Amino acid sequence: MLPDKLLRKLGMRHFSGSMRELKVNENLIDFASNDYLGFSKIPVLEESALPHGATGSRLLSGHSKAFETLEKRIAHFHKSESALIFNSGYDANLGLISSVAQRGDLILYDELVHASIRDGIQLSMARSLKFRHNDIDHLKILLDKFGQGTEQEVYVITESVFSMDGDQAPLEKIASLIQAHKNAYFIVDEAHATGVIGEKGEGLVQHLGLENEVFARVMTYGKAMGGHGAAVLGSFDLMQYLINYCRSFIYTTALPPQALTVINAAYQRLENGHVNIAQLHDVIQGFNRLVVQNGLRLRFRESDTAIQICIIPGNKNVRKVAGQLQHNGYDVRAILSPTVPEGQERLRLCLHSYNSIDDCERVLQIIAKSLKKNEQV
Ligand SMILES: Cc1ncc(COP(=O)(O)O)c(C=O)c1O
Repeated sequence: MLPDKLLRKLGMRHFSGSMRELKVNENLIDFASNDYLGFSKIPVLEESALPHGATGSRLLSGHSKAFETLEKRIAHFHKSESALIFNSGYDANLGLISSVAQRGDLILYDELVHASIRDGIQLSMARSLKFRHNDIDHLKILLDKFGQGTEQEVYVITESVFSMDGDQAPLEKIASLIQAHKNAYFIVDEAHATGVIGEKGEGLVQHLGLENEVFARVMTYGKAMGGHGAAVLGSFDLMQYLINYCRSFIYTTALPPQALTVINAAYQRLENGHVNIAQLHDVIQGFNRLVVQNGLRLRFRESDTAIQICIIPGNKNVRKVAGQLQHNGYDVRAILSPTVPEGQERLRLCLHSYNSIDDCERVLQIIAKSLKKNEQV
C-alpha cells in the first residue's frame, strides 16, 4: 500500500526509464566500486575481538580512547589542527554545512557537488547560489556581487574530485579568490581524493599545500580507505563547535569499534606508502592510453583520477551498453538522468589498483563495439 501520489511518482520513474533498483552483481570484474585500492578486502585481524556496537552517541557512552587516538592520527597525517570522526561522508557534509552556515550567510557551491552537500545546504538557514562547474570567473562574479555584506559569512563549497565526472576542482584558484574576501571560508569534500591523490593519498588540498587556506575538509572512509565513516578536518575551535551544534554528529550512535580499526589500518598503510597507490596510478595512465587507442577519446571525459566517465546520451542507450559489459563479466554501472542531467547519461567506470590492463582493454573494446553496433559513433 502506497499513497497514490507516491505511486504516480514511481510510475514516472518507470516511464522515463530511470527506475532505480537494487541489483546484486556478484562475481563480475569490478569496474564499479569505490574500493580504488582494494583495501576493503585486506583482513584486519583484531577486528573480531572487538564489541559490535558503540552503545551510544559520541556525547554519551559511544566515545572512547580509540576515537581520540584515531582522530589525533588523522589530524597529524593530514596536517590539520584537529579532526572529528563522523558516521559517514553523508553525515559529515550534512551536519557540517547545516550547522556552520547561519541565517544571513551565503553559500556558493559548484553546481555538480554531491547530494550530501546539497542536502546540508537545504537544511541550513543560509542563502545559497551555485556557480558553474569549475568556473572560477563565475564564482568571482558571484563573490563580488553577493559576498560583500559586512554581517555575512560566505562559505564556498566544492569537491576536490567530482564523483560523477572524475575531474578535479581548481582549488588553488578558488583559494586565492577566497583569500581576497575577508569573510569567506572554503570547504572541500575530498571523498574521492582520500587515499588516492598525493604521494601517500593525503588528498588534493594537502597535495597542493593548501591545508591552511581551507576552513574544513571532509575525508571519507567508505571509498579508497575500504571501510566506513568520515572525518571533518579543521581548527580545534571548529571541532568544539561541531561537538556542540552539529546534529548529525550528536544525535546518532557512534561508529562501532571495528570501523575504527579498519580506518586505523588504512591510515597505517597510507603512512607506509602503500604500493597500491602507485599501482592505481599506473592503471589510470594505462586506461587513458587505451581510450585513445580504441577511438573513444571524445566519448570520455578527460580524467587522471580513478573515476572515468563515458558519455552515452539517453537512459536506454547507456543501460544497453552497461548491460553488454555486465553480460561479458564486467561490473560497469550506468548513471542515468535525473542523477545526471538529461543528455549526459553515462557509464561511470571506477579504476582500481587490482584492475588488469587486459581487462581495461576488453572493457573499452566492448564499449566501442557496442556503440558502433548501435550507430552511436
Ligand atoms: C563526493 C562525495 N561526498 C560524500 C559522499 C558520501 O560519503 P559516504 O558514502 O561516506 O556517506 C560521497 C559518496 O557517494 C561522495 O561521492
